[in-house]
Amino acid sequence: MADQYQRKINYMRISITDLCNMRCLYCMPEEGIQKKSHKNMMSYEEMITLVKASVPLGINKLRITGGEPLVRRGVVDLIYSLAAIEGINEITMTTNGSLLEEMAEPLKKAGLTRFNISIDSLKEERYKEITRGGELKKVMNGIDKVIDLGMMPVKLNTVMIGGYNEDELDDFANLTYDHPIDVRFIELMPVGQASHWAKTRFISNETLRNRLGLLHPLKGNSGSPAKYYQLAGAKGKIGFINPISDHFCGECNRIRLTSDGKLKPCLHSNVEFDVLMALRKDPQNIENFIRSAIDAKPERHHLNQENAIYSERNMFQIGG
Ligand code: GTP
Ligand code: 5AD
Ligand code: SF4
Repeated sequence: MADQYQRKINYMRISITDLCNMRCLYCMPEEGIQKKSHKNMMSYEEMITLVKASVPLGINKLRITGGEPLVRRGVVDLIYSLAAIEGINEITMTTNGSLLEEMAEPLKKAGLTRFNISIDSLKEERYKEITRGGELKKVMNGIDKVIDLGMMPVKLNTVMIGGYNEDELDDFANLTYDHPIDVRFIELMPVGQASHWAKTRFISNETLRNRLGLLHPLKGNSGSPAKYYQLAGAKGKIGFINPISDHFCGECNRIRLTSDGKLKPCLHSNVEFDVLMALRKDPQNIENFIRSAIDAKPERHHLNQENAIYSERNMFQIGG
């Protein structure tokens, strides 16, 4: 369905857990997080029911996120069930990649189409530091596995943090020469843990693009917030996701579902709809409930305003 600003909403992002096997500096608190009790979490069955109710409203694309989605038990079975829903054409996943070497193949068999993999450093020691313990080698093996499986395009998500990993800009860009992958730079957003970082560490994608000397964007990337470029002779592409310097709210086609059962019409708004409670109380009326959440989608975020109100949730509770 179209929202009140005539944007067609066809993409649902489902965060299936807020737990993660890493604790990235700008995303998770150092002490980690408390596990929620089961009754406050959406069961897979409830997620499937909600997706089924969303299809008549126009949802045809799903993205599974977290925390880290691959740490929730039974995720492969969930993908089988979601893929069987008539009207769902694409199921993708955003993951830190650490478990992909083992899990990519079963997920592909279940019906998952492709992966976006988060990776903020190509240096072993720095990767360990930023993720508080992650192993770069495992992620690189995961990326190779997904390429071997032909689940294209494989997209990497890299958040460039001023004065921290920006010296790796060329290393990331150079990956595209011999790997058929899209390397995407995401501007650091003031969300949760990163709310205070984003002011001092922010580095605009225009700065990065100029440093790489990329001038001419490629045409035709509908549906993705990234603007793509290509180095001469490269197999892959370089993308820029500019939520701060050049927001893409006008073309936003998404709605989010959190693991504790809230529908979020916008990543950066604190307006949420308790769809889990609605589903448990009044399942007959659930399609209308989802419709009203889509209807309440704000026109845009206001992160660049003086007194902007930031999301009360952390990124690991929203899923990016
Ligand atoms: P593709 O369709 O494969 O391009 O996926 P995607 O870019 O929608 O998904 P992904 O999870 O890889 O998103 C990349 C990053 O862009 C996220 O982690 C967020 O940081 C940011 N992002 C995604 N969606 C939104 C959004 O609706 N608003 C804002 N401000 N940022 C977003
Ligand atoms: N700003 C931009 N991107 C972020 N991510 C997590 N926190 C932020 C933030 N504050 C990204 C991760 C991952 C995806 C799930 O969201 O790096 O790629
Ligand atoms: Fe986990 Fe991703 Fe957050 Fe890092 S950015 S702590 S990998 S959810």
